[in-house]
Amino acid sequence: MEKIVVNGGKKLEGECKIQGSKNASLPIIGATMLSSGENILHMCPMLRDTETACKILQLLGCKTNWQEDALIINSSGLCNNEISKNLMNQMRSSIIFLGAILARCGEARVYFPGGCDIGSRPIDLHIDALKKMGVDVNECGGQLDCKVNGNRMHGAEIFLSFPSVGATENILLAAVTAKGKTVINNAAVEPEIEDLCNYLNKCGAKIVGGGTQIIQIDGVDSLKPCEYTIMPDRIVAATLLCGVAATGGEIFLKSVNAGNLSSVLPVLSDMGCRVRVFGKSIFLKAKDFLFAPKQPIRTMPYPGFPTDLQPIMMALSCFAEGTTIFVETIFENRFRHVPELKRLGASIRVEGRVAVVEGSRELRGACVYGTDLRGGAALIVAGLAAMGRTEIFRLCYVDRGYEKIEEQFSELGANIFRI
Ligand code: EPZ
Repeated sequence: MEKIVVNGGKKLEGECKIQGSKNASLPIIGATMLSSGENILHMCPMLRDTETACKILQLLGCKTNWQEDALIINSSGLCNNEISKNLMNQMRSSIIFLGAILARCGEARVYFPGGCDIGSRPIDLHIDALKKMGVDVNECGGQLDCKVNGNRMHGAEIFLSFPSVGATENILLAAVTAKGKTVINNAAVEPEIEDLCNYLNKCGAKIVGGGTQIIQIDGVDSLKPCEYTIMPDRIVAATLLCGVAATGGEIFLKSVNAGNLSSVLPVLSDMGCRVRVFGKSIFLKAKDFLFAPKQPIRTMPYPGFPTDLQPIMMALSCFAEGTTIFVETIFENRFRHVPELKRLGASIRVEGRVAVVEGSRELRGACVYGTDLRGGAALIVAGLAAMGRTEIFRLCYVDRGYEKIEEQFSELGANIFRI
């Protein structure tokens, strides 16, 4: 079984460029189905999830190929409207392809999505919105058969009971070529939504308010393919900052948008790191001894503290003197990395959605197993600072979201390799 081996305790330092955002690239890959012709997506990260997304598009009749950092997609040959259960099970965000398939084909067959087991992850908000836009949805045994009434979806006024990222994306992909106007109220405001809207508008969509709580879409008859550069991955950037901070090192991150980390940088500073922002770059220098943040870390929809960073920040807090409290408000099962961190000697108590971490410098290497994408990254961060040898197994999870994470840390001086 493949594993990453880390001999921890070395101070990391250096500079890094950040990969393109997984969570921006996936909906944009889905959105390429809306235009016939060649889309060129620069900075598209080469990951298990983007590979899965390409397999879905190929299954539907599209052509995809990688050229250096760009993913080239030509959807003119799209001729199928069913995503297999196997592919739906490999990735949660496969559900956001539904809106695009319906917009292009008028009908679709998909299955309840799989993905990381961090919670029940229902799709009721997606389905309710599509129904309001004129889609009939029949569900039987996890299979969803969807059909547009008439030959085109129509706009609608949508009120999301929760600012769901995926539901906002699905509605956008359905609405850009629907007949009439769609308004999404209580839309997700994550930066990845704004990136998707920027791509769609470059293709000729008419979207106002992308990245805000109210998004207005005036349907157009068709979109044109375009060349687009995907935003940097804010969670990968924060993961590198946490990994370096855990070792008492320093890092200079290039071409990131510090504004997308507005809820994260103050926590690192509160823990004793010196953080400076220079335009599109972030400099962090950590002290040998970090302190637990004074306030509990409560995950919230953007611009609150990102749930995706909770496991990774928890790994860092295991080395910070004092008590750190985490409150996970987004997903009901997102502490699965805790037993693995405890194998390294971490002191963590979990009660429902609250985890209490007593920091220490005495964590020691061990064999640990990835539980989900960000949980796997957390184990690598912990291994960088734990004394001795840590072996991280089940790399299939971390490879879904990080491009060669061990090489990135190795370039910063870590004794880390994959075998
Ligand atoms: C996206 O997932 C991200 N994935 C997740 O990142 C991220 O954690 C999440 O947004 C929150 O920021 C991608 O973008 C591919 P949601 P998504 O719909 O769209 C409830 C990672 O590690 N909900 O905003 O699934 C749901 O149960 C991944 O990169 C409903 O109740 O997130 C959850 O409690 C993990 N009904 C909350 O909303 C619905 O129909 C957030 O879900 C949809 C969601």
